[in-house]
Amino acid sequence: EPLVNPEVLEMVGDWRGYVEAKLGFRNHWYPIRFSSELNEGALLVVELLGEKLLLKRIDGKVYAMRDRCLHRGVPLSRKPDCYTKDTITCWYHGYTYRFQTGELANILAVPDSRLCGRRKIQTYPCEEAKGLIFVFLGDEHEVHPLSKDVPPGFLDEDLMVLGKHRVVDSNWRLGCENGFDALHIFIHKDSTLRHFREFNFPIGHTPLPGAVTCIEEEDGPKGVEDDFSKHHPIWDGEIDGQIVVKGPKFDPKKGTSASIGTSIWLPGVLKVESFPVPGITQFEWYVPLDEGRHLYVQTLGQACTTDEERSDFANKFETHWKPHGLDGFNADDIWAREVTQPFYDDDYGWVDEMLCEPDSTILEWRRLAARHGRGIQTKKDLR
Ligand code: FES
Repeated sequence: EPLVNPEVLEMVGDWRGYVEAKLGFRNHWYPIRFSSELNEGALLVVELLGEKLLLKRIDGKVYAMRDRCLHRGVPLSRKPDCYTKDTITCWYHGYTYRFQTGELANILAVPDSRLCGRRKIQTYPCEEAKGLIFVFLGDEHEVHPLSKDVPPGFLDEDLMVLGKHRVVDSNWRLGCENGFDALHIFIHKDSTLRHFREFNFPIGHTPLPGAVTCIEEEDGPKGVEDDFSKHHPIWDGEIDGQIVVKGPKFDPKKGTSASIGTSIWLPGVLKVESFPVPGITQFEWYVPLDEGRHLYVQTLGQACTTDEERSDFANKFETHWKPHGLDGFNADDIWAREVTQPFYDDDYGWVDEMLCEPDSTILEWRRLAARHGRGIQTKKDLR
């Protein structure tokens, strides 16, 4: 059974590679947990692009290994036997692997087996940045710097990053498209975030020529930027000449726009500028877990240079931005993605959808992703 319906692939044109990437793009860095969730010596089981991985922190450094014994394919995590700090022994027949390299170091019950030292479980490079653990899900010869897979600004030295993550029941691409979709502002018209700031919030906005730019520099991350200052906003929704819904519009001198622009980057990370307030940037990842679920990694970054600024941001994060932004405001996005998923389940949604003018931004993203994705995760990669 193919991962994606071949009939659909024949119909989609110049973003075919994006539709093929149902399990995500291989050979990219993905944030999978916060550093604070993995203590020294602890073991975590995570999913990424359809693969099950074991994460372990040894002497401060994080390692990732496929959670599948080479002998008979069982998950090592079913009953983790870690007799030494850098090995894990399969609970079934004693195959013992070294975390750092994946090497089959020993078979406890067959110590002189010719296999020892000659076979390896797949391991993946890990790196920590801004309090997140990133895993490079890909092939050894493809590893590239993390800076090529995060939005510009995310790794800035003085940026303090806080956040949370949760599992959403939709494919990762519906996450990207929900976040970058200029028109989805309509869903947020009743957001409680309004109580914490006054912002201009049209019910819709259409990008004008020049608003959308593809960033494709050789050495940097690849993404599409959408500048909201070059948009035509719609404030009043009318039916038969009667205004039925209004977007809040404040005195432009007093109020500010909700955001000044968004951008979406490979391998599926959104940057929302000046949001939820000027001075803060939202960075959020839609990490593919499998065909129908993604890990929604929501973070906020603020430039902080003093301890006072850091503690102030941490307090505001807990009292304002987490409950009303990441939980309240983004809850609308989450249920929208989950309710959209059934239409795209059998892949026909990609050709049956009826996009309109502002959705041109989404098409730019699909094409860019198809051009620059470094490898499509296939069922063969899961074997
Ligand atoms: Fe793991 Fe046999 S299945 S040692």
